[in-house]
Parts: sequence; structure tokens; C-alpha cells
Amino acid sequence: MFKFTEEQLMIRDMVREFTANEIEPRDRDMDENGFDFDLIPKLTEAGLMAIHLPEEYGGGGGNTVISEIVINEIAKGSASVALFLDAHWLAADMILYHGTEEQKAKYLPLVADGKVFAFGLTESNAGSDAAAIKSVAEKQADGSYILNGGKAWITNSGIADYYLIMAKTDPEAGNKGISVFVVPKDAEGLTVGKFEKKMGMRGTGTCELSFDNIRIPADDRVGPEGRGFMIAMQALDGARVSIGSIASGLMQHAMEKAVKYAKERTTFGKPICKYQAVGFKFADMAAKIHATDLMIWDTCQMKDEGQRISVEAAELKLLSSRWACEVTDDCIQIHGGNGYSREFDVERFYRDAKLLEIGEGTSEILRMVISGSVIGR
Ligand code: CAA
Repeated sequence: MFKFTEEQLMIRDMVREFTANEIEPRDRDMDENGFDFDLIPKLTEAGLMAIHLPEEYGGGGGNTVISEIVINEIAKGSASVALFLDAHWLAADMILYHGTEEQKAKYLPLVADGKVFAFGLTESNAGSDAAAIKSVAEKQADGSYILNGGKAWITNSGIADYYLIMAKTDPEAGNKGISVFVVPKDAEGLTVGKFEKKMGMRGTGTCELSFDNIRIPADDRVGPEGRGFMIAMQALDGARVSIGSIASGLMQHAMEKAVKYAKERTTFGKPICKYQAVGFKFADMAAKIHATDLMIWDTCQMKDEGQRISVEAAELKLLSSRWACEVTDDCIQIHGGNGYSREFDVERFYRDAKLLEIGEGTSEILRMVISGSVIGR
């Protein structure tokens, strides 16, 4: 049976208060105007940018449970800000788990100091088929690399200070020919495109990146040459848990708004929450949130014990992202015509929820991962 410790409960309450004061009030505006850069110093000051990194690098010394408490609580105020943090950690954790001591000493204190990181795998013609990326990092005689190509749909692009880029170092070797590199935002030859106009998660930055002969020192390759695919897949396992945490927080946020509305709105002489048609929707929502939460904390515990979580994270993301779509849909239905209006919040939650079925592994890819574990590959 999973139970939070006193320390975890304290952190949860602190993040809950921070979210109510600093994050929730910004969510609607960020949907209209994009990421609010003022949040970075606030998240940094609250110790949230690196809460799970070891204290020796300026982090909070937390574990996976603590980082998912943070993502989950923040998602109760803004799915976009939770996704920002998820993508930041997805990238930074590659250095934490696979970097050399020198790389950790150089980059991890920057994470704690409010520098933003982004994970660059997807390309315009290689999303689900991640091993088919075309960006190439060609090794030079002095050991450095020259990077050419580009990326698409990179969360935190246009905001990030550092990009963790996956590129082919041996184009003939398939998934065994990919390596990971740190590329700073001011690298000569890096162009960051315009912010994409997206359906939801509009409070996050998403751009294309293009690489024109970027020189990368040998010291900025993370992990062994050719191991980049596995490093990226492992990082995505962790990030898929965060998508579950975002789904749970978003469902909770939407349900709270709908409960408030259903208690205030009257039809035929009584509040609509008194009708079974509405009450049963809340029953289904509560059950979906509870089941999601059990899967989150179970998977976190497995990760903190050092177990592989590929299948469990895929199961969590598959179910919770579908449920987030269903719950936000039901919340619009409860609001009736008002739910379809931008004057109310639930239509935004519905648009935000859809990304959860696509980003960081589509539901179809997750089914491949899960079914592979059931029937063999
Ligand atoms: N952990 C460790 N190793 C793993 C692994 C994991 N989770 N998944 C695969 N591997 C290893 C396999 O064991 C295998 O190793 P061996 O060859 O030594 O046996 C190797 O990697 C290749 O695995 P597969 O044969 O399964 O590879 P594949 O090419 O068939 O692809 C896939 C598998 C599951 C479809 C994978 O390509 C995948 O997950 N695709 C989706 C990618 C994705 O989620 N993209 C979203 C990126 S997020 C983003 O870009 C947005 C953002 O900003 C955050």
C-alpha cells in the first residue's frame, strides 16, 4: 500500500499553495499569450526547477515520488506549466543518469539555477519511428562533432537555454547509431523557429529547430556514442509517468470546476448536481482519478527501487490520457452551452487533454510497448 511520508505531504501542501497563488491565475492568460517567462524565477526560488536533483548539484534531493507530486499539483493549476517542467526534467535527467561527473558538475547546477532544458528527438518526418531521425552529427578529427539537420515539436523550444539533441553518429547503424548532445541556445548555426499555433497546451513553447554546421565539443556528448536511442527511450519512460501526473491533475482541476458549476446552476427548480445524470458523471471522474493516482505512485515507487518501468509507464499514460479526454469532455457537457465558451475554463482543459494522447509516445506506440510485453515481440 502506498502512503506519502510526512516530508512528501509537506512538499505537496507547499506546491499546492504555490500553484494556487502563482500558477492557476496565469493559466488562462498563457492559453491566449503563450508561456509566461516570469514563472521561471518563481519556480526557481521555490526550489521546484530541480527538486529531484541531488543536493550536491543544488537540487532538492528528492526522488521520483517527490517530482511527480510537484508535476501533479502544478497540473491542478495549469497543464501547460506541468508539461513545461516535465520536458525540462526529461532533458536534464539524461545528464543526471548518463552524464560524466564533469557534465553533471557543469550542467546540473544550472538546472537548479533556473536554466531551462529541452529534449530534442522528434523530427518532421520521424515522430513515432524515433530511430528514423535524419539529423547527423559527424565526428571530426579532433573528436568534436558537426551537427546538421533539424527537429520539430520540441516542447520548451524558444524558452530553453539548453537542448539535449539526438542525432545520428552512424547513419547506417539504425537505432544503434544515435548519440545525445548538449546544444546551448546561442550555439552558432542553431535557428529556433516561430512558436507553433497549437490546439492546446498553448502555455508551452513549441518550435522547429534547425541545425546548420553546429560544432559540438566532444565533451558535450552525453553517454557513449551509439547509445542515444536507449538513453532517450529510458528518459521517455520517466516522462510518461509525468504525463500520468499531468492527466490526474488536469482531471482534478476540471472536475472541481464542474462540481462548483453543477452546485450553482439550477434547472427545473434544483441544482443540476442533484440529477443522477450529472452525479454519475462525477462518480466516473472520481474513479478515473483514483485509478490514475494508484498507477502513478506504484510506478514511481518501482522507479525509485531501480526497476524498469517501460510497460507500467506506458499503461499509466495510455489509460490516464484517454480518461483525461473523457473527463474534460464530461465537464464541458455538465456546463452545457457555457462549457463551449472561452468565458469558462473547461474548453481549455479539453484542448489541453488531447495532447496527452499524442506527446511523448502516442497511445498507438504505447499499445505496441504493452502488447509486446504480453505476447512477446
Ligand atoms: N528502455 C531501455 N531500452 C529500450 C527501451 C526502453 N524503454 N525501449 C527500447 N529499448 C531498446 C530495446 O531493448 C532495443 O535494444 P536491443 O536492440 O539491444 O534489443 C532497442 O532499444 C531498440 O528497441 P526497439 O526494437 O523496440 O525499437 P523500435 O525502433 O522498434 O522502436 C518504439 C520502439 C517503442 C516504437 C520507439 O521508437 C518509441 O517509443 N517511439 C515513440 C517515440 C516517442 O515517444 N516520441 C516522443 C518524443 S517527445 C518529444 O519529442 C516532445 C517533447 O518535446 C517532449
